[in-house]
Amino acid sequence: SAPPSWDPERLFGGATGPAGRPAAMYAGLQELGVANGEDLKETLTNCTEPLKAIEQFQTENGVLLPSLQSALPFLDLHGTPRLEFHQSVFDELREKLLERVSAIALEGKVEERYKKLEDLLEKSFSLVKMPSIQPVVMCVMKHLPKVPEKKLKLVMADKDLYKACAVEVKRQIWQDNQALFGDEVSPLLKQYILEKENILFSSDISVLHNFFSPSPKARRQGEVVQKLTQMIGKNVKLYDMVLQFLRTLFLRTRNVHYCTLRAELLMSLHDLEISEICTVDPCHKFTWCLDACIREKFVDNKRARELQGFLDGVKKGQEQVLGDLSMILCDPFAINTLALSTIRHLQDLVGQDTLPRESPDLLLLLRMLSLGQGAWDMIDSQVFKEPKMEAELITKFLPMLMSFVVDDHTFNVDQKLPSEEKGPIPYPSTIPEAFTKFLQENRIACEIGLYYILHITKQRNKNAFLRLLPALVETFSDLAFSDIFLHLLTGNLTLLGDEFAVEEFCTSLFDGFFLTACSRKENVHRHVLRLLLHLHHKVAPAKLESLQKALEPTKQSGEAVKELHNQLTEKLELRKPSPAEVTETPSMELPLPTVPTPASR
Ligand SMILES: *[C@@H]1O[C@H](CO)[C@@H](O)[C@H](O)[C@H]1NC(C)=O
Ligand SMILES: *[C@@H]1O[C@H](CO)[C@@H](O)[C@H](O)[C@H]1NC(C)=O
Repeated sequence: SAPPSWDPERLFGGATGPAGRPAAMYAGLQELGVANGEDLKETLTNCTEPLKAIEQFQTENGVLLPSLQSALPFLDLHGTPRLEFHQSVFDELREKLLERVSAIALEGKVEERYKKLEDLLEKSFSLVKMPSIQPVVMCVMKHLPKVPEKKLKLVMADKDLYKACAVEVKRQIWQDNQALFGDEVSPLLKQYILEKENILFSSDISVLHNFFSPSPKARRQGEVVQKLTQMIGKNVKLYDMVLQFLRTLFLRTRNVHYCTLRAELLMSLHDLEISEICTVDPCHKFTWCLDACIREKFVDNKRARELQGFLDGVKKGQEQVLGDLSMILCDPFAINTLALSTIRHLQDLVGQDTLPRESPDLLLLLRMLSLGQGAWDMIDSQVFKEPKMEAELITKFLPMLMSFVVDDHTFNVDQKLPSEEKGPIPYPSTIPEAFTKFLQENRIACEIGLYYILHITKQRNKNAFLRLLPALVETFSDLAFSDIFLHLLTGNLTLLGDEFAVEEFCTSLFDGFFLTACSRKENVHRHVLRLLLHLHHKVAPAKLESLQKALEPTKQSGEAVKELHNQLTEKLELRKPSPAEVTETPSMELPLPTVPTPASR
């Protein structure tokens, strides 16, 4: 039967091919000597007998299979359009071709298989912009360990092609284009830092889980680490580039989360057994061993020996490695583990009547803490030397911490004595001046001191907490006002929740500590609001109201502070009796808070 009234302009859409695609996409066919839509259009425009012309075009360009001679008219009888038939044949063939390409990439001698694929690429590349053929061309490139330079350039120059090509091909583009790679990596790094900060400022303050709860294995399942690992593949050059980005960003921002990412990336490649990279990163074994310690949240004797072996094994001429090791040790998860182990060791030493300087394990922990704390300076100065440990840290500061432990024991024993034998021992209320000074001047002492304070808070030792708290107002580099410490402190303070009902406790904690820094440090403002939002129901109404006023956002305050303060104000409103209640029952006392404990606790 005659085709319905037809109009080549309508059918083939002027300068566009089927489905409105630019004819340029099909230009590649012409290069290969295959007729395309343009040719058909011209034929139909010029011809005098369209039916004949169509028939001829079909014979010339259809599937040349004798058995189809009878099958095609049969399909016509069933009303199956030729387009549908051809499309399904095409799809089928493309599937086969894709399978074949992947198979070729694995079979035969190495040089031959790549030769075949290279030839295939040469022949098919002109069709790369044709959406239906593109997957095949991309598949060929994906399997080539080295796509010819010219093709890579063409792909790179075309945004759509670049987007469509496999990560294997992108890696080859990236490795010679640091800037382009940087553009791809930097949104991921931003996302990573943001995620970390969101956890630190999480409104969910819980004793059960906090920033340090996730295991190292769980952390490296995170989206960013997985994506970066995928982007790097087995490419040492790309790995080096990412490390260089991380060093640069750490240097520029002092943000320690970059150090965490450095370790997580290496361990993620370790999990995937990518030996191409692990064996060339001199930090691999050290990081692996430290990772096991972080998992256990403790450095045991055996691992301590091992770690020491790696540190002592850094050879002359390779001191640069110390820069990377120090970054690995500056990861807050590493510091957390080292500091927790240090506190545990100190307690053990009290029981054993031993001084810190006599414990090699403790000395090693300090050595690693100093190396980690010195990371920024080392990378900044490019002087790769282990920082010298101040002797006084070991001979004065740590024994002082041990004496605090003894103070607690003495006090506790005294409390248990029958009243007539009770000595007149009140809890020591003053702090040795040296302690305050150490926290101000010595970075390592400060870090350990802060962890000691977390430790006593966790033990709900209110006396010790209130005694040492004043030392936190001024610390080295404001470490006591860092997000990580405040995150842990707020978490542990929930264990002293009942004390919040006591005016003096609140005054010491808020007026004596938090409020001293709120106006100059926005992050402190946020943390104290988080804490109050969580524990407001424990605080006496009058105190809470005065705190709410004191914590009013300033003009400079960001959205986060304003939002938190609004929430606090709302809670306060809820606690106040409504005016109606007050007038109806004037004698009634202020209702005690009946706010249910949040489910997370
Ligand atoms: C179609 O006609 C145009 C102009 O008349 C001519 O240039 C062209 O060669 C013709 N094409 C074919 C395939 O005959
Ligand atoms: C309390 O502090 C300790 C450090 O001593 C830390 O390991 C723990 O995770 C903290 N707890 C909370 C709930 O933040």
